[in-house]
Amino acid sequence: MEKVCSTIMTRKGLPVSNTNFRRCNVSKKVDIDWGKLRFDYMKTDLRYVSIWDNGKWDDGKLVEDNKLTISEASTALHYGQQCFEGLKAYRTKDGSINLFRPDENAKRMAKSCERVLMPEVPVDKFIDACIQVVKANEHYVPPYGSGATLYLRPFVIGIGDNIGVKPAPQFMFCIFCVPVGPYFAGGMAPVNFTTSDFDRAAPYGTGAAKVGGNYAGSMMPHELAVKQGFADCIYLDPATHTKIEEVGAANFFGITKDDVFVTPKSPSILPSITKYSLLHVAEHYLKLKVEERDVLIDNLDEFKEAGACGTAAVITPIGGIQYKGKLHVFHSETEVGPVTKDLYNTLYDIQFGDVEAPEGWIVKVK
Ligand code: PLP
Ligand code: COI
Repeated sequence: MEKVCSTIMTRKGLPVSNTNFRRCNVSKKVDIDWGKLRFDYMKTDLRYVSIWDNGKWDDGKLVEDNKLTISEASTALHYGQQCFEGLKAYRTKDGSINLFRPDENAKRMAKSCERVLMPEVPVDKFIDACIQVVKANEHYVPPYGSGATLYLRPFVIGIGDNIGVKPAPQFMFCIFCVPVGPYFAGGMAPVNFTTSDFDRAAPYGTGAAKVGGNYAGSMMPHELAVKQGFADCIYLDPATHTKIEEVGAANFFGITKDDVFVTPKSPSILPSITKYSLLHVAEHYLKLKVEERDVLIDNLDEFKEAGACGTAAVITPIGGIQYKGKLHVFHSETEVGPVTKDLYNTLYDIQFGDVEAPEGWIVKVK
């Protein structure tokens, strides 16, 4: 059957698909060197689009076109009224496909929507859309053992004609997917970070919401860090600059000399699903003590190992952190510490279905 899913526009400027996704033929093979994938964009076959208008979401559909046509006056373009999510699909040994905790992404996206006055996408609709996108692009789900995964990028944007600083008249919820490899160049090899004098969020701003403005503000500090030879920068708490908040677009964890898994607690960091999963894995699988609390930048000596964690970053071991011109090295700049390795292996095995997951963590796509 031919592919006939291109997007057309209504008079209101709202996109509609000219056919239902079920007619699309997606049973093709792709020629990808899975092991060489980095965290880069690649157009895949079909993406999901749903429109909120007159107080409700439509049923949504899969479309071929990866271009969105929206009003020039969309709030997403001018006032940053938007948010996004990131989650992954994992190919298991038996060829089935796992989503990891998509309900948590759905709930976090609902909170981000609430923070910037956008309508929430119901959890069921979010998960159903994720499943549709993975199924429709199944041949882009990397094979088991390649280390690569299919990254899903859901987002909600304010669209429609509007000029004042107020919520948009319509909204669009989309999900596209991209096969990806490691986010940081080292993958599971340690990389160094430097602290930044800039903040990614204000003390009671939007740091805990996954809204684009936080990331626009992080591009310059990121680039400055990379120019100095670091993988990314570490953000300190915006009020006092004495505590670690985030590691670029990932959360921080440290392992103390007496084997406590520690991760920062703050109203201005993103509540990372990976971080909360690692808190559980550390406590219940590795039998470590865990603490969510302040992490003082002047007290890095308390940690024998440290890492960045997130959906894209997975677990990236931190070799060292530069602060006030001095590089503090944890376990090693070249070797992964044993606790970090255990955390990584356990999380990896849960996500790829090799170790039993806590109830509700895995949603089967097929
Ligand atoms: N912190 C920031 C700023 C992020 O962008 C992300 C990525 O989503 C994370 C932390 C990690 O969150 P999660 O583990 O839910 O992907
Ligand atoms: C993720 O880990 O899903 C993120 O959102 C990081 C991203 C900004 C690259």
